[in-house]
Amino acid sequence: MGTQKKYSIKTQVIYIMGVSGCGKSTIGKLLAKELKIPFFDGDDYHPESNIKKMSKGHALNDDDRQGWLETLNNLAKKQLSTNSCVIVCSALKQKYRDILNKGIVKQAKWVHLEGSFNQIYKRINSRSNHFMPSELLNSQFDILENPKQAIKIDISLTPEKIINTIKDRLMNTSEFGLFGLGVMGKSLCRNLANNGFKISMFNRHVDGVEEDVAKKFKSQFSELSQAEAFDDISAFVNSLQQPRRIMLMVNAGKTIDFVIEDLLPHLSENDILIDGGNSNYKKTKQRFEYLKPKGIHFIGTGVSGGEEGALKGPSIMPSGDLEAYNNIKVFLEKIAAKDKNGLPCCTYVGPEGSGQFIKMVHNGVEYVEMQLLAEVATILESLGQNPDEIADTLETWKDEASSYLLEITTNIFRKKEGNDWLVKKILDKAGNKGTGNWTTIASAELGVPSTLIASALFSRYTSFYKEERVLLNKNFENVNNSELNISTQEVLEAYQFARIINHYQGFKLISEASHKSNWNLNLSEIARIWTNGCIIRSSLMEDLVEVFKETTNILTNSELIQLVKKYKPSAKKVVSESILNDITTPALSESLQFLNGITTEYASANVIQAQRDYFGAHTYKRLDDDSEKSYHTNWN
Ligand code: 6PG
Repeated sequence: MGTQKKYSIKTQVIYIMGVSGCGKSTIGKLLAKELKIPFFDGDDYHPESNIKKMSKGHALNDDDRQGWLETLNNLAKKQLSTNSCVIVCSALKQKYRDILNKGIVKQAKWVHLEGSFNQIYKRINSRSNHFMPSELLNSQFDILENPKQAIKIDISLTPEKIINTIKDRLMNTSEFGLFGLGVMGKSLCRNLANNGFKISMFNRHVDGVEEDVAKKFKSQFSELSQAEAFDDISAFVNSLQQPRRIMLMVNAGKTIDFVIEDLLPHLSENDILIDGGNSNYKKTKQRFEYLKPKGIHFIGTGVSGGEEGALKGPSIMPSGDLEAYNNIKVFLEKIAAKDKNGLPCCTYVGPEGSGQFIKMVHNGVEYVEMQLLAEVATILESLGQNPDEIADTLETWKDEASSYLLEITTNIFRKKEGNDWLVKKILDKAGNKGTGNWTTIASAELGVPSTLIASALFSRYTSFYKEERVLLNKNFENVNNSELNISTQEVLEAYQFARIINHYQGFKLISEASHKSNWNLNLSEIARIWTNGCIIRSSLMEDLVEVFKETTNILTNSELIQLVKKYKPSAKKVVSESILNDITTPALSESLQFLNGITTEYASANVIQAQRDYFGAHTYKRLDDDSEKSYHTNWN
């Protein structure tokens, strides 16, 4: 286990600086009292000549200040030989600070109390016995050179908050903790550090398997030089400012509960735990409710973008209680990707596990987008294209169908290993980590027909039966697909058609869940945070940001209606030709079937109702009776 690091203030002189009226003396005294160290007001050390000059309303010049600053520097040196101390002094120019720092640069800590002219002017005029007339304030602002290395404090904060902030910074505690240094956790640490945040990083110790993970990671990247690395939970938690902000980047599932139990004894009221994994949204709600009576906030957040996104800017989907979110907002929004207007691809999604719910649906939509590209590639291959040619075709689709997944799939088809295309060497069994499964279950539970997501998921499951596929292939002769009578333009249009249906279904699922759980989710804002950083970012998503400002149903938007109508003939042709040629295209086919179903005025469900009534007396309602009355017929 790692050694405990004690967080206390080392011997140092704390200079509190700022223009007259910023509250230096008040804050200095409070801080000295809190830290139990001596306090010195620089004004008490002016020679008589300076005091006279100032009380006549004349500003001091650099010569007047020289001796006085040297006196304060000597005072600091003397104090440092025995103890820390607080010295307040305006120290507006860098050269004044240089005098104060002389010989003690490493032990001198600077705190700058910052406020606007108006704010400070008001303060000074409200005081009765201050010896510096407020008119001098102007000249003070003129000569103020902002210090680069100081702890900057906004004077509009309460004195208590100011003291706590200074204490936290002096103790070198971290603003944000990252628990779990897997691929995503590591990238998020680097992203936070690159954005100037002081972080603590934790990874467990497992003998011979995970040893000094955090320390080794810290030593690999220069941006982590100020980060703290731990493998001891208590030391990690103690290194954080309160209320603590700890982001958990561990495997979803039971591990989260174990980690929560491990952390709990070390946490204090109002601390915030953030689960950034692909956790089940119902579990997030349970964890939220479990931690609430203990005074611990729990934020469940979707994070999308993979390793690179996490490092350079992911899409972040936090949910839970808004007050807790506001406390972590600055961190998440800073590290998130930015949309085309420069706004963060991170927003407070809603209550409970709504953030993880939309991340789950994001993944469902992702499964379909991936499956469609896989089907498209199979069709292009059947048209005689080799992987390079497939990449060339996909490349030409960029203008009309731009998306991250199209881009990476193009690259995948180009990649060679020696003389061979790598993609052709990959075993055709698609894995999954469970989010597509959950989306399908959630759809079924909510009664929403997310048929494309189910189709994409079950295609992955079918792929897993490799041995059976090989065996059954011998029993069934597939037709020769040299008869495939379609153009690449038609394939593109079929692909675009299915993508619109996919996005319709994904957002429909979110909208229904929001309605049933009273989450009040904003679909346009969700589309916006998915325009960058995440796996399903695309030009279609950009369009949906606007579409959802007008409607929650994209198939009522006139431009999308026109597009669907334009693409449908190609979708029909591509799917028919694929079926005739025994090419497996479940998602493309389902997109057509679904649109036909959802646009059918009188569906075949009347037959189902009759059958149910026939064998189970389940009753049915009649079109010629508006009263909602149930009918039963003796069918024999
Ligand atoms: C993302 C991804 C990410 C991960 C999926 C993969 O948005 O960054 O969706 O969360 O890649 O979990 O899921 P499968 O392993 O189920 O394909």
